[in-house]
Amino acid sequence: MLGTELPIIQAPMAGVQVSALAIAVSNAGGLGALPCAMLTAEAMRKELEAIRAATRKPYNVNFFCHTPPTPSAERESAWRAALAPYYREYGIDPAGIPAGPGRSPFSAEAVEILEAFKPPVVSFHFGLPASEHVARIKRWGAKVLASATTVEEARWLEAHGADAIIAQGIEAGGHRGHFLSHDLTVQPGIFALVPQIVRAVNVPVIAAGGIADAAGVRAALALGAAAAQVGTAFLLCPEATTGKVHRAALKSEAARHTVLTNVFTGRPARGIVNRVIRELGALNGAVPEFPLATGAIAPLRAKAEAQGSGDFSPLWSGQNATGCREVPAAEITRSLASVR
Ligand SMILES: Cc1cc2nc3c(=O)[nH]c(=O)nc-3n(C[C@H](O)[C@H](O)[C@H](O)COP(=O)(O)O)c2cc1C
Repeated sequence: MLGTELPIIQAPMAGVQVSALAIAVSNAGGLGALPCAMLTAEAMRKELEAIRAATRKPYNVNFFCHTPPTPSAERESAWRAALAPYYREYGIDPAGIPAGPGRSPFSAEAVEILEAFKPPVVSFHFGLPASEHVARIKRWGAKVLASATTVEEARWLEAHGADAIIAQGIEAGGHRGHFLSHDLTVQPGIFALVPQIVRAVNVPVIAAGGIADAAGVRAALALGAAAAQVGTAFLLCPEATTGKVHRAALKSEAARHTVLTNVFTGRPARGIVNRVIRELGALNGAVPEFPLATGAIAPLRAKAEAQGSGDFSPLWSGQNATGCREVPAAEITRSLASVR
């Protein structure tokens, strides 16, 4: 359905990759992805032009579609109070920290830009955008994919026009794609989720979460998935823009312990346990709503990273980082699809 040679979809990963990874995976026969949640309109255009110039293969353009929250001064100051000891430790003046949204949802402007490029696949995390946007994307022939963390979400996405469902298991790195329930206990692991979604919907299902090698891909296909979406395994590739401290953490023993945490963005996402998570708790009630939490922690992250420390960095990773290798993404793509 997506026109790729291999059943391998590179998970879009905002903040750690732009077009280079997408191009490498698409040219290797998988489906490369450009995540747009952290790109300005201008940057998005530039990256789409780079993809158009470098591949004729299918590729995916990905967006978040959350509803931006109303900022709460009370919550912002409660969260900054929790971070105050760290600001003092690093000599940061909290008065000088701008509040910022950090991540933007899909918008009318994004559809305009997309229409000029007509990407063959567009995918969404946190539900789907307004139905007129979905219809417009489909008019140029694009397939629409979206993440589901439960059977209910998969049924909702199918009913609202998704052409395939990404079944995201609890193992997955980065943000959980949930949008119908905020109850963190409702998302099953991939072995339980994939077959249930396959039975519940009539569109193809793509398995995501903890898939790190060809055996994992084969297991996903055996459970009824049509393809596997893999994120974490691409994080050490030279085409990814993964930062130094993040790369070091992925290569270390620390990568064995990941957790769902809201301290970096306000929304639960899976990352490697680090100091700020240990000291403030993985799910902290004072954190501003997604994506407003990003601003307050940003200067701590910058100062710590400048000293080579990942104590305040979002070290996103799925539960299985064993597939991470410092080799070109084409090699990872081909080895995920290898039949032995
Ligand atoms: C660093 C990182 C960033 C991510 N960013 C996005 C994103 O921008 N959009 C999205 O749809 N999913 C994002 N995800 C989630 C992936 O789509 C996918 O569910 C996950 O990578 C699959 O699990 P795995 O990492 O264990 O392979 C991200 C995952 C990681 C690890």
